[in-house]
Amino acid sequence: MPISFIETLSPQATTLHQEAELGILSTPASLPPKFFYDNLGSRLFEAITYLPEYYLTATEEIIFNQFGAEIQAHIGAKPLLIDLGAGNCQKAARFFSLLKPNLYVAIDFSIAYLRTILSHLQSQYPTIPMMGIGMDFSQQLRLPPEVPQTPRTFFYPGSSLGNFLPTEALQLLKQIRQESLGGGLLLGIDLFKSASILEPAYNDPLLVTAAFNLNILRNVNQLLGSNFEVAKFKHHIEINAELMRVELYLEALEATTVQWQGKERYFKKGERIHTENSHKYSLNSIQKLLTAAGFDKMKVWTDPQQYYAVIYAT
Ligand code: AVI
Repeated sequence: MPISFIETLSPQATTLHQEAELGILSTPASLPPKFFYDNLGSRLFEAITYLPEYYLTATEEIIFNQFGAEIQAHIGAKPLLIDLGAGNCQKAARFFSLLKPNLYVAIDFSIAYLRTILSHLQSQYPTIPMMGIGMDFSQQLRLPPEVPQTPRTFFYPGSSLGNFLPTEALQLLKQIRQESLGGGLLLGIDLFKSASILEPAYNDPLLVTAAFNLNILRNVNQLLGSNFEVAKFKHHIEINAELMRVELYLEALEATTVQWQGKERYFKKGERIHTENSHKYSLNSIQKLLTAAGFDKMKVWTDPQQYYAVIYAT
């Protein structure tokens, strides 16, 4: 079955350029985490999910395995399944035999990666119609008209919602509810826990997370034509208990000046670029957020340690 592929990224190319530039020129400097996910970045993230320290993926899988049938019963038969930030599509694919979606729509910022993954997936599941959408939904989620106007089941696993500020997460959840056309949302979300568990999950001894974080500079060099020297920065994290989040930074190891297209930014030694927030929720706070977004029915599944939650909200 041929995969229809829709790309809504290109018209925003100038905005992406401006977003990167604005972030670097700000003080403190920052870069939006979506710039992690070029072809290499998506693969580095995939490698993170195999790290024993990165408990999120394994715990979510335990919940999906244990409660798969119950989850399927809540979603119902043959849904139109929309995978937000699909990545390697493996999490959704695990549900294919249970859910038998009548259409699988994978949405991801990393278009090149999605193309490769989807064509492989289609050959594994030839009877499931598939559509790929290359889209940046971090600003706004509006599905293209090619997606059928029937109730839609959104699949948003991996605690990716946590990479938004709570105010942005609320906006996104409202848009998901609106775009679901009376369907639902299956959400995976990480729960707040002690620094002794969070620290190694985001600062692993193999330095895979460090590579993932530093790769953003290569991606920005590609986008802006800038000359960031990756070796002049190091990966750094902070656990911000007050805001219930892990913060990722790149810290200049020495003074360095980055130049691009007639512009430049000087970083003094120790200066940081903020690259990501990974918010953690309590069972109470995530349900409150979903309620504020307009969802009124929720079913929650967790692991015995309550490290992680899977919620089906309608
Ligand atoms: C994609 N996202 C949910 C990951 C997280 O845990 O916030 C990204 C990540 N950053 C560092 N490690 C993993």
